[in-house]
Amino acid sequence: MSEPNASEGPKGGVLIVDFGAQYCQLIARRVRELGVYSRITVPERAMFTFAHMRPTAVILSGGPRSVYEHDAPALDPKILEQGVPVLGICYGLQWMAQHTGGEVTPAKEGAEYGRTELHVQDGRDLLAGVRQDGTVWMSHGDKVARLGPGFAVLAKSQPCPFAVVGDRQRRFFGLQFHPEVAHTEDGGTILKNFVLDIAKCRTDWNPGNLAETKVRAVRELVGDRGEVVMGLSGGVDSSVAAVLIHRAIGPRLHCVFVDNGLLRSGEREGVEALFRDQYRMDLEVVDASERFLGELKGVSDPEQKRKIIGRVFVEVFREKAKHKRDAKFLGQGTLYPDVIESVAAHGGATSTIKSHHNVGGLPKDLDMTLVEPLRDLFKDEVRALGRELGLPSSLVDRQPFPGPGLAVRCLGEVTREKLEPLRFADRIVREEVEQRGLHTKLWQWFAVYLPQKSVGVKGDARVYEDVCVLRIVSSQDAMTADWELLPVDVLKRIGNRILNEVRGFSRVCLDISSKPPATIEWE
Ligand code: XMP
Repeated sequence: MSEPNASEGPKGGVLIVDFGAQYCQLIARRVRELGVYSRITVPERAMFTFAHMRPTAVILSGGPRSVYEHDAPALDPKILEQGVPVLGICYGLQWMAQHTGGEVTPAKEGAEYGRTELHVQDGRDLLAGVRQDGTVWMSHGDKVARLGPGFAVLAKSQPCPFAVVGDRQRRFFGLQFHPEVAHTEDGGTILKNFVLDIAKCRTDWNPGNLAETKVRAVRELVGDRGEVVMGLSGGVDSSVAAVLIHRAIGPRLHCVFVDNGLLRSGEREGVEALFRDQYRMDLEVVDASERFLGELKGVSDPEQKRKIIGRVFVEVFREKAKHKRDAKFLGQGTLYPDVIESVAAHGGATSTIKSHHNVGGLPKDLDMTLVEPLRDLFKDEVRALGRELGLPSSLVDRQPFPGPGLAVRCLGEVTREKLEPLRFADRIVREEVEQRGLHTKLWQWFAVYLPQKSVGVKGDARVYEDVCVLRIVSSQDAMTADWELLPVDVLKRIGNRILNEVRGFSRVCLDISSKPPATIEWE
């Protein structure tokens, strides 16, 4: 996947130059939460994107490199001559200092990692409303040693004399800490001060209002040049994308829903009822469960399971797409994080923790033009758009469900004998949590099948059966997660129901691991 075309997307807003920051997406989200459009670009393309986007302000992100390394990310210093306010964060500040006559050196005693206190010297504009001696979160090995002409110190921290600096004349500001992370007190105030008060960006970004623009864009792209085929998973992203595309081209959209035998209870029926019966979409349901389970026979390695499921999905989908005579276009529910993750050129190799599989992860050699109406949106924005389009809350607010389905919750070899009790237990967890509205504060709530026998007694007989694990977590974005404790009476009821109604479990356990170090899914 590539970066969105520079000409795509609205004009104005904040252009964020990604120097390889871990938190770049967070900056973009914080800006959008202020009602201001933001987009991320790599340093090499920054001027090009600037020319098309005509942003009202620029933010330079942090990054893992040193400005004095010979192959440090190359940003054209002309970005400082465009007459727009610039906020440099961490590496971004160091880059700005270096290009405005200042000096950057390795920090040695000045290096700071983690929380530190910020002593405000000048509490006007950028730091208006920021508390004295509040906590900020730093992570830097280099430091600004000397400021260039025009800059003044606005705040210090114990080892860092240039924690916040600014040149009011040119509206250039720099922070040596990260305002976008939750550990920085008043970080949101600083970003708001910069974006709204200093840069005076227009607050006209409202993803809920995008429906008509998106529909028009799909119509323009597809025109009368053919038909669109897309895989519908029943998840939020592909559903919202399908509804948009359907609004644009009606019966020329063909959706394919692959039943891989790894779905939750009621999933397939729900998709049929909504998309075929209610939206009247052309929906083909392919029952490929035999094929998936056949290929998974005897396989217990988690990565191998994921790879097999991904591969078989592509095979099945490809066979179906071939039959759509005129389908030159492939619809996908790709989101902005998928796009920017693949262009964060300086982020270093993030190791593959798990190979993710999405309906969106189809290979290029299908030789079709992609239709991806959500590729500039974050997940919460897609939800807002889904609501605007009238999709039911049961769909828009549903918990994420992984592409490989129940296979990653059915440890070891995947068999029908294990899937059946797992599916039933999962349904019980969902019913008990959702009936009480407890899910609104949760990220995911599901059951896991642990093929570990333990002794129990049912009726008067000794049983030797497997373990059902409850995984209930809260999270902002799935990067980190906390386990959550449901009210004890609800846990008791879930435990009782699973042990009494589901065959195959002699024990129900609660997973009390946070992420990291655990992951949310068990495989
Ligand atoms: P982990 O287990 O890595 O999961 O903590 C993070 C989030 O991603 C979901 N997940 C997936 N989603 N395809 C997906 O679309 C996948 O292959 C996949 N694996 C995990 C998981 O449910 C959690 O929300």
